[in-house]
Amino acid sequence: MAAGTSSNVHLHDIPDVILSNIFSLETETRTRNAMSLVCLKWLLLERSTRKSLTLRGNIRNLFLLPTCFRAVTHLDLSFLSPWGYPLLDSFSNPLVLAQFLRHAFPSVVSLIAYVRNPLTLHLLASQWPNLQHVKLVRWHQLWPAAPVGSDLVPLFDHCPMLSSLDVSHFYCWTEDLPPVIQAYPSIATSLSHLNILKHDSSTDGFKSHQLLSITACCPNLRKLLATCIFNPRFIGFISDQTLLTLALNCPLLSLLHLADSTSMSNVRPNLIEDASISFATLGDVFSKLPLLEELVLDVCHNVKHTWPALELLNTKCPMLKSLRLGQFQGICRGIASPPDGVALCQGLESLSIKNCTDLTDKALIAISHGCHRLSKFEVLGCNQLTRKGMWEFTHNLRKTLVDVKISYCKNLNAVSSLQALEPIRDRIVKLHIDCVWASIIGEEKSLKNWSKLKYLSLWIAVGELLNPLSLSGLNGCPSLEEIQIKIEGDCRDQPKPFMDAFGLSSLTCYPNLTRMILDCSGVTGYALTAPVGHTDLSLWERFFLSGIQDSTLNELNYWTAQDVDVNQRCLFLPAAGLLAQCGSLRKLFIHGTANEHLMMFLLGNPTLRDVQLREDYYPAPDNDTITEMRVGSCCRFEDALNSSSRHVPD
Ligand SMILES: *[C@@H]1O[C@H](CO)[C@@H](O)[C@H](O)[C@H]1NC(C)=O
Ligand SMILES: *[C@@H]1O[C@H](CO)[C@@H](O)[C@H](O)[C@H]1NC(C)=O
Ligand SMILES: *[C@@H]1O[C@H](CO)[C@@H](O)[C@H](O)[C@H]1NC(C)=O
Ligand SMILES: *[C@@H]1O[C@H](CO)[C@@H](O)[C@H](O)[C@H]1NC(C)=O
Ligand SMILES: *[C@@H]1O[C@H](CO)[C@@H](O)[C@H](O)[C@H]1NC(C)=O
Repeated sequence: MAAGTSSNVHLHDIPDVILSNIFSLETETRTRNAMSLVCLKWLLLERSTRKSLTLRGNIRNLFLLPTCFRAVTHLDLSFLSPWGYPLLDSFSNPLVLAQFLRHAFPSVVSLIAYVRNPLTLHLLASQWPNLQHVKLVRWHQLWPAAPVGSDLVPLFDHCPMLSSLDVSHFYCWTEDLPPVIQAYPSIATSLSHLNILKHDSSTDGFKSHQLLSITACCPNLRKLLATCIFNPRFIGFISDQTLLTLALNCPLLSLLHLADSTSMSNVRPNLIEDASISFATLGDVFSKLPLLEELVLDVCHNVKHTWPALELLNTKCPMLKSLRLGQFQGICRGIASPPDGVALCQGLESLSIKNCTDLTDKALIAISHGCHRLSKFEVLGCNQLTRKGMWEFTHNLRKTLVDVKISYCKNLNAVSSLQALEPIRDRIVKLHIDCVWASIIGEEKSLKNWSKLKYLSLWIAVGELLNPLSLSGLNGCPSLEEIQIKIEGDCRDQPKPFMDAFGLSSLTCYPNLTRMILDCSGVTGYALTAPVGHTDLSLWERFFLSGIQDSTLNELNYWTAQDVDVNQRCLFLPAAGLLAQCGSLRKLFIHGTANEHLMMFLLGNPTLRDVQLREDYYPAPDNDTITEMRVGSCCRFEDALNSSSRHVPD
């Protein structure tokens, strides 16, 4: 083609089919929204190629339900407001509502929904008989009288094509699943993806016979994630024979993720017992799973002398890319060359090691030589590691490593962790460290440029301050967009905060920071009157949030602190006042409850346009009449938020 003609070619000369392909490659919602505003043709192209949609409005405003997204195949209904309320119950004829949803989104094959009661699932599942992927969400307790498994029956009844089921955020008993799976053998046979990992520490794990009866019915599973019991003192614990049978039941697994039920809790066990898993049988298990790409075994009980088994992992599972081991001992001896144990797994791109008490610097360095493709590395609870070993590790992997987490390692506090990361300072994108300041001796005055760092995650004990962060060597982060801060501890042990503010205002040194997850859910204190000499949670909350007014945050996810004795997690007056003054905030998600009059405070913030209360923790307040934020309050608040007297700048 002559060079000159190119200037005459307009984007619209591209055939529609190709243009449509180009559109479908864009997945970012905001970009798509912008594209749809260009012209009518682009609007139609955008709508016809939009595959996934999350609905966020209030279910009352059904007249606003968009009907132009007819190509959407992935629909998420789990964020509808009022959050957690039985979806279809606000209507006298819930079936009509369900049909209305089907007419608006006729192509759905993948659905996520908050299912408070079996009726919701019955009505939704019957609308889309071609559903292939379903994720159920529920943080509220079960209906006490419901028979075992009845929650899941409607789904299996209506959706014969189901191939992927995720109940990891769905509160139910472990007894509920096996009978349903057994009752629908043809669905069970075609299931390829089952996620029964429980994200809360209060529910039990699956017992050995339950796991085996499920996997025996599902021979074609490619992905299996489950919480189970590895403690050999418990009836039905998972032994190495269980693992072997599981591997024989599901030989096609590419992802196997088994975590002990205590792996989610913060409780420090007094005595770590040995799991009933021998390295010899473990090797046999690996040899039965040749397609493994991702393996997680977070056993929480010691598995000893594992290097010979891990060496087999390299030969028997050649596609393995990601490995996470919890409480595995002797994973690598690091005794000179040739490498041994996990260091032989040269295909690994992601490695996470938790509570490996005998992992030495030498072994760590051997791993960096052997696993030379690692881009992600996590180390938790490994107390023998030092800054020197970590430095050499990151130095050896400086061409690939971009995502690092260092946590609960005795010798690696904030300063030494950051010093150990020096070789990859200009490359690292994602980082977690613990804010343990113990040894800030000389302050790092010079500016350190972490030029690519986008996500920072921090752990900090309650009562500690955040300010030393920028002094410890993390002061220049021009690309930092998101920060996650987890505060943990019991403030009932402490009389009161010894300073006015935790230090959120120190985050103003990060110019591009727009999103924050402030997680105080691990903080316990007195919600009501505190005993003499102590401070209640409202003052602690003021301590945590002071300074947020100065931030440039756009989006905040805030998990409130809790009073375990009265099962209360709620927002207090000082927090409402401070959040109302945060002049750049557009989205605010409070993971807890709040009084209506405190929510109304937030209306004083002129930029806020999306606010939601989510009680996404166990157990979500059981009865909406006992939580402060009732359905009626929620609707009044949303109306006020959207009222014409507020002009939210775009
Ligand atoms: C195991 O690691 C966790 C952190 O992930 C820590 O809380 C726990 O105390 C560790 N246990 C032991 C025995 O080191
Ligand atoms: C940090 O590094 C980036 C990329 O190398 C560079 O563009 C930027 O100017 C540096 N910032 C400072 C303050 O040195
Ligand atoms: C800051 O954020 C904006 C928007 O996300 C991005 O386009 C820009 O590149 C970022 N700046 C730096 C230095 O990373
Ligand atoms: C839940 O609220 C209803 C309506 O006020 C009440 O009748 C019922 O007793 C409450 N249930 C519990 C468990 O508190
Ligand atoms: C929000 O306000 C606008 C204009 O006042 C109105 O057209 C729209 O229907 C309202 N939305 C809801 C969900 O009430």
